[in-house]
Amino acid sequence: MNSEQPKTIIVTGGASGIGYAFCEHLADLGHSIVIADLKGASEAADKLRVAGAKAIGVTCDVVSEDDVKAMAAAAVEAFGGIDVLVNNAGLFTTLALKPFDQITNAEWMRVMEVNTLGPFNCAKAVLPQLLRSGRGRIVNIASTVPIKGPPNMAHYVASKGAVIAFTRSLARELAKDKITVNSIAPGFTLSDGVLQADLQNRIGDNARTTGRCIQRDQVPADLVAALAYFVGDGAGFVTGQTLAVDGGGVFL
Ligand SMILES: NC(=O)c1ccc[n+]([C@@H]2O[C@H](COP(=O)([O-])OP(=O)(O)OC[C@H]3O[C@@H](n4cnc5c(N)ncnc54)[C@H](O)[C@@H]3O)[C@@H](O)[C@H]2O)c1
Repeated sequence: MNSEQPKTIIVTGGASGIGYAFCEHLADLGHSIVIADLKGASEAADKLRVAGAKAIGVTCDVVSEDDVKAMAAAAVEAFGGIDVLVNNAGLFTTLALKPFDQITNAEWMRVMEVNTLGPFNCAKAVLPQLLRSGRGRIVNIASTVPIKGPPNMAHYVASKGAVIAFTRSLARELAKDKITVNSIAPGFTLSDGVLQADLQNRIGDNARTTGRCIQRDQVPADLVAALAYFVGDGAGFVTGQTLAVDGGGVFL
């Protein structure tokens, strides 16, 4: 159990994959969890509640302004406010890997929409509550791909570069309001979506283990302590940062 005062934390894309691992860990630490996802949010929240957590699920598309406003309202109704937003929802595991000149404009815009407009929308929707909280936190889930620049996913790489840039800009804007903004950059991780798409067998060893100091596959559980750190009271003087959690694949 956490000795810190519990917080109310929204995790977008929290019904499965890395997002659900985040929710489980934060719930174990005693925080109240709002799972916001396109699908499976209520079922995932039910699982957390069965394990003794305070959790609700909200069906939400992070691209929709109306949905994210409803997400914030549901959090306030259930728990009285919002302290932390984790922008985890993203398009990655369902993407076709292809050379950049075969990516259509529609594919490019869709990835940008979910991966960059989504976090922007959610940050705007929760801002009044983060201001009220007095200890607000935003944690964006980026990736190491903007550092490594892998081929055949240019739209995704560009979108995650934007997430890191957005993090830095927001950190400067919101520090006066006692809100910190940081990013976690996971390496290639065997999430539910990756396993369902068999991406681990299509993406190549270069993304998985080659060049990593720690020579094994990454799993969602490898990421949860980094999030708990950024959410915790002790990280109140850390903002604008991107923490690579990838077994030492890149050095930032
Ligand atoms: N798995 C990896 O190798 C890896 C590496 C680096 C970064 N990431 C990032 O981590 C995050 C989670 O990745 P994952 O592998 O767990 O993905 P996943 O595909 O397993 O899960 C993504 C979750 O987001 C939800 N989602 C998708 N679009 C949404 C939308 N518009 N609104 C609300 N919810 C939506 C999905 O329903 C799903 O529950 C993503 O931002 C991804 O880019 C993943």
